[in-house]
Amino acid sequence: MKKIICLVAAILLLATMTSCANQPDTDIINSSSVVVGFSQLGAESSWRIANTESMEKAAKEAGFGLMMENANQKQEKQIDAIRSFIAYQVDVIVFSPIVESGWDNILNEASNAGIPVILMDRMISNSDDNLYTTYVGADFYAEGRRAGEYLIRKADTMNKETFNIFEICGTVDSTPMRERQQGFMDAIGDDPRFNVVDSICGDFLRSMGGECAELLLEKYGENMIDVIYSHNDSMTLGVLDVLEQRGIRPGKDIVLITVDGEKEAVDALKAGKINCVVQCTPDLGPAVMELVRKLKAGEQVSKITHPEEGIFCDFDDLSNPAVEGF
Ligand code: AHR
Repeated sequence: MKKIICLVAAILLLATMTSCANQPDTDIINSSSVVVGFSQLGAESSWRIANTESMEKAAKEAGFGLMMENANQKQEKQIDAIRSFIAYQVDVIVFSPIVESGWDNILNEASNAGIPVILMDRMISNSDDNLYTTYVGADFYAEGRRAGEYLIRKADTMNKETFNIFEICGTVDSTPMRERQQGFMDAIGDDPRFNVVDSICGDFLRSMGGECAELLLEKYGENMIDVIYSHNDSMTLGVLDVLEQRGIRPGKDIVLITVDGEKEAVDALKAGKINCVVQCTPDLGPAVMELVRKLKAGEQVSKITHPEEGIFCDFDDLSNPAVEGF
């Protein structure tokens, strides 16, 4: 009976959404007996777009109906989407929280409705971990550590006593921002060669990455900048554009460390313009759908699932075909 209600609800939702011209990102694919409500946080980066594609493809392959809403970087829109999924009694809610705080009420509503919640990609800060069923996504702290460990290795090969580091952060109060920063700081923490001079927010956007680079160059001048650690490839590519426009050689005059592994960034690494790409896979769809399957089958699921990730860097054999972006 619940499945029939869900199916009808999915059709009604489709009718509502398609009649709403100002919601172009809303989509439903392959309505079936299992319906997953998916709130994506936005389309701010190539990583995010690849992640959305991974979710759509995996849902289709699993034969699950996917009600997807894109929140265009607005937490209120994510909350509205989750509330609509509760109203439609979806089987499972999946969402990627744009920031860590502010989810208690809506997650209590989902819990009261008996709908399991899978956090995908990002975490929430709530100490009550009963408000979600399971999390699948990167170990962002480990990513930050890998970035710092790479820098230590790189510095060992350079004839320099001190390194001025500038950090370009992702969205404030988001899990990748907080943990990539902490992991990096912990890795380089007690090494006297490193001096983190400034940290500014680029919101994971390419345009903002460029603006951050302009700001830093204006404020400090190119000679003071030894290292830029940027929390994602989109911002790094924005930085790269600005450095090249100014005749500064990225990867040579300034060490560039980035996170994600999108094709354009890996190609820039191969061209010697980026020094290190810390991997963060967007391909989380198959793991999410496997969790949905298990939950529907009444099987136990682990509280946290991290994909395996590593780094690509200028110490690697970059002609190896395994060095490839998404
Ligand atoms: O949460 C994952 C991060 O979000 C990715 O590193 C970034 O590119 C995206 O916008």
